[in-house]
Amino acid sequence: MNEQNNDVLIKLQDVYKIYQTGETSVHALDGVSLEIRRGEFAAIVGASGSGKSTCMNIIGCLDKPTSGSYHLAGADVLSMDDNAKAKLRNKTLGFIFQQYNLIPKLNLCENVELAMLYAGMPAGERHKRSLKLLEQVGLADKAQNVPNQLSGGQQQRVAIARALAGEPAVILADEPTGALDSQTGREILAYLKQLNIEGRTVVLITHDNAIARQAQRIIRLEDGKIVYDGTADAPEAVVAAE
Ligand SMILES: Nc1ncnc2c1ncn2[C@@H]1O[C@H](COP(=O)(O)OP(=O)(O)OP(=O)(O)O)[C@@H](O)[C@H]1O
Ligand SMILES: [Mg+2]
Repeated sequence: MNEQNNDVLIKLQDVYKIYQTGETSVHALDGVSLEIRRGEFAAIVGASGSGKSTCMNIIGCLDKPTSGSYHLAGADVLSMDDNAKAKLRNKTLGFIFQQYNLIPKLNLCENVELAMLYAGMPAGERHKRSLKLLEQVGLADKAQNVPNQLSGGQQQRVAIARALAGEPAVILADEPTGALDSQTGREILAYLKQLNIEGRTVVLITHDNAIARQAQRIIRLEDGKIVYDGTADAPEAVVAAE
């Protein structure tokens, strides 16, 4: 790892993502350069279609840019083969999605354990660790329940426990409060803030200005370009209602 960049976990340089459908091409990302350092809490905001999910998918190593470069924890992601990329992703990133993406047939404990399977941890240890993570999000007593026996906010807490299973440096959350009422959304946000206080880097996508305002840093996209990158209190940080 480059010593000089030790602190920079996410580095996008001049990233373009162009979707070609027939005659038309959409510049979903149009020259995005961005650095996120260890310990930051950043919110990516912008109107629908501005490129937030495209940006998150590239940061999450789930998609490749059309051009540009991406370094994650010092590693040049775009030059890696799929196997190396998957390893880096599992080691460095934890994902949280709007729709929780829990496996309906598995109980909560098994859902969290599944995230540790790939790391090759022995079964007994996985189980113990899974219970501990569920305890951290206040759901130890529901470990044997299946996801649809839980409220939305509880399911999202399981997703947080699952995201933490691999001890990732970075939590990536795409609209984690999007399916929740505002009170429950605030509770989920409080968990993410707590993780950040404990040293984890959090990158969050949100439509909700009230949620975004609680981040230290707001990155605002418009038509695939960064039009604002700074503290949450500036008027430019706010996305107009659609
Ligand atoms: N697979 C695809 N093929 C073609 N166009 C796409 C594809 N994925 C995204 N786009 C386009 O790229 C642009 C950015 O999409 P993206 O999903 O990143 O927006 P977003 O900011 O996440 O929006 P939302 O808030 O609605 O989730 C949009 O114009 C979208 O229509
Ligand atoms: Mg999106």
